[in-house]
Amino acid sequence: MARAQAQPNIALVKYWGKRDSALNLPASGSLSITLDSLWTRTCVVFDPTLTRDELLLDGAEHPAALARVSGCLDLLRERAGSTVQARVDTHNNFPTGAGLASSASGFAALVLAGSAALGLTLDQRALSVLARRGSGSAARSIFGGFVGMAAGTRADGEDAFATPLLDAAQWPLCVVVAVTSTRAKAVGSGAGMELSRRTSPFHAAWLAGADADLASARHALQHRDFAELAAASEHSCLKMHAVMLASRPALMYWNGATVECVHAIRALRERDGVPVFFTIDAGPQVKAVCLPTAAPRIAAVLGTVPGVEQVLTSALGAGARLLPDAEVD
Ligand code: PMV
Repeated sequence: MARAQAQPNIALVKYWGKRDSALNLPASGSLSITLDSLWTRTCVVFDPTLTRDELLLDGAEHPAALARVSGCLDLLRERAGSTVQARVDTHNNFPTGAGLASSASGFAALVLAGSAALGLTLDQRALSVLARRGSGSAARSIFGGFVGMAAGTRADGEDAFATPLLDAAQWPLCVVVAVTSTRAKAVGSGAGMELSRRTSPFHAAWLAGADADLASARHALQHRDFAELAAASEHSCLKMHAVMLASRPALMYWNGATVECVHAIRALRERDGVPVFFTIDAGPQVKAVCLPTAAPRIAAVLGTVPGVEQVLTSALGAGARLLPDAEVD
């Protein structure tokens, strides 16, 4: 048995599209920040009396997610030479499946707890490769701070893993999340990406621009250039949503409040000079990335946007870690 915690990460340069669906290999690289105050805590127990894996998510059975979880556990069992089934008990302190990257923190915590429970000692690169099999973005939640994810070129995917770029303390940005709906999304990211790959006329242009966006974001990190990071991130985000919108049928993850939050953030920056930019994933929540001194003002403004249900603020945090027993609720 072992317990682990991982935090979600938010991509600033996004990935949307796979080069191999079976191995979950991204078609382009990405760059993300790992959060601090949102978390998944997961306990994995391998129990010889079980006839199949069991999954409890926030205290309830979750048959829809079990196959993906079992798939990840199979990879761990294969490495350990074990056939023992597992009980997985996992908790999120934030809404699941609503565009808040719960699959990223979820699969990162799962592979760390699962590997430790089987007595495997895997390095972070191996954990990143395994987490990627559960969810592409989970590969990045193994690490804290700013994280780069490589698309890789190998057919076996062994070069598609994340690497740490900067620690949270080296550029302590803050993220203010405007939650505009906690309903689970209608189209999951895996199905959405595949639809975009098959039908969006913008998909090829999206992939062609990824390396330039990554280079710009990495340059911004090196120089702690907030304006350059803001420009690269918003451009990547809006291009991804343009790809989604041009898919057939169209993928529209935004609601009215999402758009109002984007306007509010742009006004804060362009009119009032507040150091902030937005990013949005496959869901209606808006993440405002800012310098820490600006966070209270941004949280107050986003809290007044009609349709915003909740505002969460988080610093950047560390990567996935094993928990001593006492730290699990
Ligand atoms: O981790 P996945 O495979 O569910 O995909 C995540 C996709 C986005 O969040 C929209 C972009 C990203 O790079 O995280």
